[in-house]
Amino acid sequence: LRSPTATSASAAFADANAPRQPFVIGVSGGTASGKTTVCDMIIQQLHDHRVVLVNQDSFYRGLTPEESKRVHEYNFDHPDAFDTEQLLDCIQKLKSGQSYQVPIYDFKNHRRCSDSFRQVNASDVIILEGILVFHDQRVRNLMNMKIFVDTDADVRLARRIRRDTVERGRDVNSVLEQYAKFVKPAFDDFVLPSKKYADVIIPRGGDNHVAIDLIVQHIRTKLGQHDLCKIYPNVTVIQSTFQI
Ligand code: CTP
Repeated sequence: LRSPTATSASAAFADANAPRQPFVIGVSGGTASGKTTVCDMIIQQLHDHRVVLVNQDSFYRGLTPEESKRVHEYNFDHPDAFDTEQLLDCIQKLKSGQSYQVPIYDFKNHRRCSDSFRQVNASDVIILEGILVFHDQRVRNLMNMKIFVDTDADVRLARRIRRDTVERGRDVNSVLEQYAKFVKPAFDDFVLPSKKYADVIIPRGGDNHVAIDLIVQHIRTKLGQHDLCKIYPNVTVIQSTFQI
């Protein structure tokens, strides 16, 4: 017969050896708010950990031939523009330690590159970035930390004009038309209301080094707690909340 102490010790040992669940961070914010810059800065500072970035943009649905003909009437800022089921499948698989073939999206032609994928492997930290990553509750529930990048609308519009004309093959008039017709209304209806789910709101995006340093410290603490549990399996780590 094993003593109760021995039983609880071996159970604790089994827990300590359980595979580490990746820490999932959601990064949301309006178009051209600096989400990618914030993610890159977090990744840079966590260089000693395995970190992967998944963009919600990769899960844009392909357009039907009819929609393609009338692309100027298509709302890319509505939640229905994304294949959320596939995004959910991706994050669930990555969270359970499996790799995933993430689609590659072509903004110039508004479609997925049908024959190429990006292989994303298991990691310590998964960052999911996109304008509507807080919209679906099932996706939100997979996140350990939610960050909203809060940048003034005029700064975002100026960046968007530059980016879409330089990188996405658009002309200024079409960018302004799309912004007034779809981007701004969808920001007001879907993106802004999802800000309430954020744990941390970063004003000025990538320019806010203090906020990013604090976030990285918090992530390091969370990753370190797992290591602490491995070394001292009977130690209870008290969870804390975090807000800037
Ligand atoms: N979009 C588009 N044409 C497509 C698909 C998407 O114009 N075929 C636009 C949508 O209107 C949406 C935007 O792409 O507003 C989403 O990308 P955005 O968040 O602006 O890009 P990021 O590089 O992630 O932004 P950030 O600067 O915050 O990193």
